[in-house]
Amino acid sequence: MGASGSGKTSMRSLIFSNNPASSTARLGATIDVEQNHVRFLGDLILNLWDCGGQDAFMDSYLTTQRSTIFQHVGVMIYVFDAETREMNKDLEYYRDCLEGLTQCSPEAAVFLLVHKMDLVREPKAIMFEKKREELQKASSGVVITVFGTSIYDESLYRAWSSIVHTLIPNAAVLNKHLNIVAAACSATEVILFERTTFLVIATSTSSTSSPSASTSSTSSSSASISSSTYAPSPPSPSDPHQMHIKRYERTSELIKAFKWSCSRVREEFHSLELDMYDFTAVLDEMTRNTYVMVVVHDPTIETAAIKLNIRMARKKFE
Ligand code: GTP
Repeated sequence: MGASGSGKTSMRSLIFSNNPASSTARLGATIDVEQNHVRFLGDLILNLWDCGGQDAFMDSYLTTQRSTIFQHVGVMIYVFDAETREMNKDLEYYRDCLEGLTQCSPEAAVFLLVHKMDLVREPKAIMFEKKREELQKASSGVVITVFGTSIYDESLYRAWSSIVHTLIPNAAVLNKHLNIVAAACSATEVILFERTTFLVIATSTSSTSSPSASTSSTSSSSASISSSTYAPSPPSPSDPHQMHIKRYERTSELIKAFKWSCSRVREEFHSLELDMYDFTAVLDEMTRNTYVMVVVHDPTIETAAIKLNIRMARKKFE
């Protein structure tokens, strides 16, 4: 949900339909609600509702359609245009929607995206911090997670990986299995991506940069705020190989762009091997709906051995 023009359909088009950011300028306003069913992991189907943000539609969601819109919600994602001139009006609608949500789906998680951060000229981290506080106040005690996002960089993948992660019922089991694969490959890290969206589903490490661990509670209130691309992020002290804090979302974004280039020359993307100076990375199909990336810093480990381990692990993940 969110005001008209805040960028809801654009992000859906990028993440779930593999379209490039440049194509979003052609999108028209969403009429009422557009529903999408995205088969995510095996039998897990993500039921995504894109609620057009024009005032007439918003008013109808809050009145006649109230029980349809706000019942059985797993996650509400509310998008704010970072450069909006109508923040007060946006906040008013947001408060009303939050009220509807807490009435009809009290268990639902709430994610707030301060979107179009690429357009912000003042220091982005300071602006984001201000917005975050404003949103925290407007949420009157409801637990929220805030991300700064843009369709022009990897920030959107970080936010959406985190959102989707909250919806996966067996995420902890996946983490455990990935740890076993990591140990078998002597890998520094193993990451599981969803096949179409390339969102991160689970990782073998439980570092602060993992999407599952990006939310932290603040002591001053019951709201919780995530670290974001646009907020200063602390270095990861537990990271022996100095791996980049944004590596997951950067990988999602780069592979999606690569897949798109492949499709333009009518080639299908299957796997990728990177042999760099200080590490090796193998990206390969794990199941019908997932890809796995194994990152190894030990130069004595052969790529073929990593691929063999992935092949042997497939059955466990199906
Ligand atoms: P409704 O369907 O009316 O509710 O609007 P919406 O929220 O779905 O907005 P939409 O996705 O149609 O985006 C409106 C405009 O914002 C488009 O021209 C997009 O190209 C642009 N846009 C979306 N995301 C971004 C972003 O991150 N940065 C910038 N600069 N523009 C964006």
